[in-house]
Amino acid sequence: MDNTPILELKNISMRFRSVQALKDVDFDLREGEVHALVGENGAGKSTMMRILAGIYNDYEGTYIFGGKPVRFRNPHDALEQGIGMIHQELSVIPSLTVAENLYLGRQPLTRWGMVDWRKMRQNAEKELEHLGFNLDVQRNLEQYPLGTQQVVEVLRAIVSGAHVLIMDEPTSALSPAEVEELLALVDRLREQKRSIIYISHFLEEVLHVADRITILRNGEKIATLTREEASMNTLISLILGREVDYTPRGHHEIRSDTHKLLEVKGLTADVFQNIDFDIGEGEIVGLYGAIGAGHFDLARALFGLYTFDSGTIAVDGQVFPPKHSARYAIDHGLSYATESRRKSLLMDHAIYRNVTMPHLKHIGRYIPTQDQELAIATPVIQKVNVVPPDPMNPVGKLSGGNQQKVAIARWLTFPPKVFITSEPTRGMDVGAKNEVLNILRQFRNDGFGVLVVSSEPETVLAIADRVLVMSRGQIVARMVNENLDKDALMRLI
Ligand SMILES: Nc1ncnc2c1ncn2[C@@H]1O[C@H](COP(=O)(O)OP(=O)(O)OP(=O)(O)O)[C@@H](O)[C@H]1O
Ligand SMILES: [Mg+2]
Repeated sequence: MDNTPILELKNISMRFRSVQALKDVDFDLREGEVHALVGENGAGKSTMMRILAGIYNDYEGTYIFGGKPVRFRNPHDALEQGIGMIHQELSVIPSLTVAENLYLGRQPLTRWGMVDWRKMRQNAEKELEHLGFNLDVQRNLEQYPLGTQQVVEVLRAIVSGAHVLIMDEPTSALSPAEVEELLALVDRLREQKRSIIYISHFLEEVLHVADRITILRNGEKIATLTREEASMNTLISLILGREVDYTPRGHHEIRSDTHKLLEVKGLTADVFQNIDFDIGEGEIVGLYGAIGAGHFDLARALFGLYTFDSGTIAVDGQVFPPKHSARYAIDHGLSYATESRRKSLLMDHAIYRNVTMPHLKHIGRYIPTQDQELAIATPVIQKVNVVPPDPMNPVGKLSGGNQQKVAIARWLTFPPKVFITSEPTRGMDVGAKNEVLNILRQFRNDGFGVLVVSSEPETVLAIADRVLVMSRGQIVARMVNENLDKDALMRLI
């Protein structure tokens, strides 16, 4: 492999007011290389990538591209030079066709200045064939699964001329099969001599796909390893810079005679049918399914955010009225943290406000003062270890994983009887994942019921006492979490 870098960062530093996001970082990327970037939540990964992609240009230090120092004014500037960034939030438009998505904003025109649909279709087919994909370019993108939409997002950057591709947590919302599809695409792009920077918290994925791995901690570069030098253990200790206290999974005694905190009978809606299960005091139930199995909507239905047609939900023996609201659910002991933190958090509002928001009426008879709210929020913000721990910061300024901690922290103030959480550790680093799982275990040990809804087999296996597997809207298996492994779970869906 040619070792001359196509891009290089030298002594890059970047500050956001009180936060030093990057300190004197060096980095380089070679042609035809997959260079992974790993580090704890808030380590500075996305910041560094935004500099590379021209989103931030008020950094200190030198950015060398194609042998010359550059300072891109904006992402468009960077893309002109062949540097494209794929964001975690998809920017493709599901209601447009595959071809339209590939050429969004740069459609081929006829000589009359109209969109040349035929040419666009033919170009799209040619490009896809060249990249080894077989999609009907005239179908709307929404008819394809999320994994394919993510692939189209990547292909669009390629079609726009990107030779260097920056992927920031591209697989965090994908199911295992879709992850494989995306990793296969990455391999193919490498064969075409494109260069890829790959950010992920899934270290197995990183070890599988990367040629080199750079570790950031607290805004500083800790090391760059080749794949041969790296192992799971070296990566974890370099990422964290400390030992993690791993609580071994399983072996929580399951008793059938416990008081039932949640009882669900015959729950039926358009996307799930005849769902029966219960959760006892001091029990964590994992609800596992592939994306689209109906498990996320089932969680929403329990909380009053998704309409169901029949069946009953009872919490602590009390049956909910049909069409209950989320407010009713909260008041009767249920709480719910969605898989989509963008929907549940007020990004422009302070952290403390996001924590107290669902509880304002419990805090006092009158509208609480800021001091009262801070008194409630500060301890839980510390408990989940939000970094930086300033409760006055807007949530939108936190890194992805720290936003997730806020979404969980809000339910620690007035603990519910049953806590429902979808993808509780999505986007979190190894240390933070462990912290959140310990918080959930603490809930259980305090006698609450916990429902963890997830499409990540690892998450369910790490936390659940019992596992329910959902497929096409039905519960197809119920198991105690002993001697289960990932393959066994995945075979059931
Ligand atoms: N626009 C901003 N304003 C203020 N602070 C910011 C901003 N963007 C990032 N930060 C801070 O800079 C630091 C680095 O954040 P960054 O988003 O780069 O982390 P990350 O490594 O991508 O984390 P994650 O794995 O959680 O996505 C964090 O402390 C974050 O709070
Ligand atoms: Mg990030």
